[in-house]
Amino acid sequence: MKEITINLNGAARRVAVAPNETLLDVLRGKLGIKTPKEGCGRGDCGACTVLLDGKVVRSCLILAIEVDGQSVTTLEGVGQQGPTALQQAFVANNAFQCGFCTSGVVLAASALLTEKPQPTEHEVREALAGNLCRCTGYEPIVKTVLDVARKTGRKSAKRRARS
Ligand code: FES
Ligand code: FES
Repeated sequence: MKEITINLNGAARRVAVAPNETLLDVLRGKLGIKTPKEGCGRGDCGACTVLLDGKVVRSCLILAIEVDGQSVTTLEGVGQQGPTALQQAFVANNAFQCGFCTSGVVLAASALLTEKPQPTEHEVREALAGNLCRCTGYEPIVKTVLDVARKTGRKSAKRRARS
């Protein structure tokens, strides 16, 4: 076992990990984080998505020992001051059904909107291509991300016009 320190959702956490434990196992089994899910366990479904130093990763494919000293964001760390516009829009647009994929989808979409606030539909679909959803057919998810981007764009334009 080795002690590692990660910045988890803004707070430093120390945890002892075995060399073969995945980040997903440690988050769920040792750190009380339940939103990343184990679907396929081999990098195909995206249910275990987290952000590692802001980048979208599959936590089932990463050894916990490798993330020593890095920042991990899970859905528990998003919207700590209340639901984000994206989270609110997911609810308003019924962009999920069973919810198994939703944590990963929201994190991947948040990362996209941070990097590219005004993505095209193609870019949204590409960014979410690694997050499989068995329920929604993807249309409400893509529409939700595009709606949020459009609204954010309109607000920024108004702010620019006022200043
Ligand atoms: Fe990690 Fe499916 S559980 S990608
Ligand atoms: Fe059920 Fe996406 S809402 S898998």
